[in-house]
Amino acid sequence: EHAAVPGELTDPAGSGGALAEPGAVTLVVPTFNESANIRELLRQIAESVPSRLPCEVVFVDDSTDDTPDVIREAARHCPFPVTVLHRAEPVGGLGGAVVEGLRAATSEWIVVMDGDCQHPPSLVPELVATGERTGAGLVVASRYIEGGSRAGLAGGYRVAVSRAATWLTKSLFPRGLRGISDPMSGFFAIRRADITADTLKPLGYKILLELAVRGRPDRVGEVPFVFQDRFAGHSKSGAREGLRFLRHLIGLRTASPAARLIGFGLIGASGFLPNLLGLWALTRAGLHYVPAEIAANQLGVAWNLVLIEHLLFRDRRGHRRWWDRACRFALLANADLVLRIPLIALLVHRFGMGALGATALALAITFVLRFVGTEALVYLP
Ligand code: GDD
Ligand code: MN
Repeated sequence: EHAAVPGELTDPAGSGGALAEPGAVTLVVPTFNESANIRELLRQIAESVPSRLPCEVVFVDDSTDDTPDVIREAARHCPFPVTVLHRAEPVGGLGGAVVEGLRAATSEWIVVMDGDCQHPPSLVPELVATGERTGAGLVVASRYIEGGSRAGLAGGYRVAVSRAATWLTKSLFPRGLRGISDPMSGFFAIRRADITADTLKPLGYKILLELAVRGRPDRVGEVPFVFQDRFAGHSKSGAREGLRFLRHLIGLRTASPAARLIGFGLIGASGFLPNLLGLWALTRAGLHYVPAEIAANQLGVAWNLVLIEHLLFRDRRGHRRWWDRACRFALLANADLVLRIPLIALLVHRFGMGALGATALALAITFVLRFVGTEALVYLP
């Protein structure tokens, strides 16, 4: 009975869920092994939300412990509907869980908050009120505006990492994050009508970033908040989450073909490094420079393929097997080399260009052709 079917909503309190009243709020709370925090969180919510705003709570749970049972038990004593959506297949991590919650929510406003009491529920009515007052579709609880702070971010190391990540993210998305001082916040209100869940590709912790950059809300608001200490247990993020975050940034940044072309060029340029190293090693080992260069070039191709697979076309790999993609990619790369010489000759003799200009133009042409070929013939269009 406890192992819920994926996608099934269980409603232990029997209170019906489904709040469609205007101005009502659904609190979406992702949980991963937070059994020691549930009671306190629901107590804090009960204390400060329902008297000011009708609410329901949807937990989206990926726990391996008894968190869902604890939620069901605690829900009996709650003056508002509480549901648990336990995911059998936890895809997308924290962000994937939040998107499930956004789909399940029924009220006009949704507030996303952590399950460890680091986000004070007393702020929930203010987040929604700010949206209603200003017409904003997204209201972020920020640690970085007057009145906010990150008291609960333990240790200088975490503060430094958080600062650097915020700076990097803000400079990568100057337009998408305009008006958002704290794009890393996990505490925000969003109008349900403004959500396009099907266009989202959540990956890890930074779901607000995903909603702001891909969802492009017309107007955003902010409310200061003090990031509290965790009530019990410990943070679930670590080095692995950091890597996921970088992949998420690259995925967001290369959503357009033009941005992918630039990424493709940067990766291609980085391929000179293994190429030159290979050439150096092989000639030192006594190989003639022509076969050495041919072999070293394949090393550069392999390097490019690995980076492109993992950074640029991660979610466009489609149905082809990896060796199929590798062969196609290598073919395109070598066709590029073979094509370039006659193309230069054509530009020089037929169009009277200088050798240098012809070489530069030929490089540019074959580069774009290779990119288009890679998009169309190796990965999903
Ligand atoms: N369903 C689900 N699946 N929930 C998860 C998962 C997961 O894979 N991973 C973490 N959670 C839940 C936790 O149980 C908790 O309720 C909430 O997501 C936040 O996780 P923490 O591990 O406590 O995150 P944090 O405190 O390190 O980071 C928080 O603050 C950061 C700002 O410093 C989060 O709000 C981040 O999004 C935020 O950037
Ligand atoms: Mn936390």
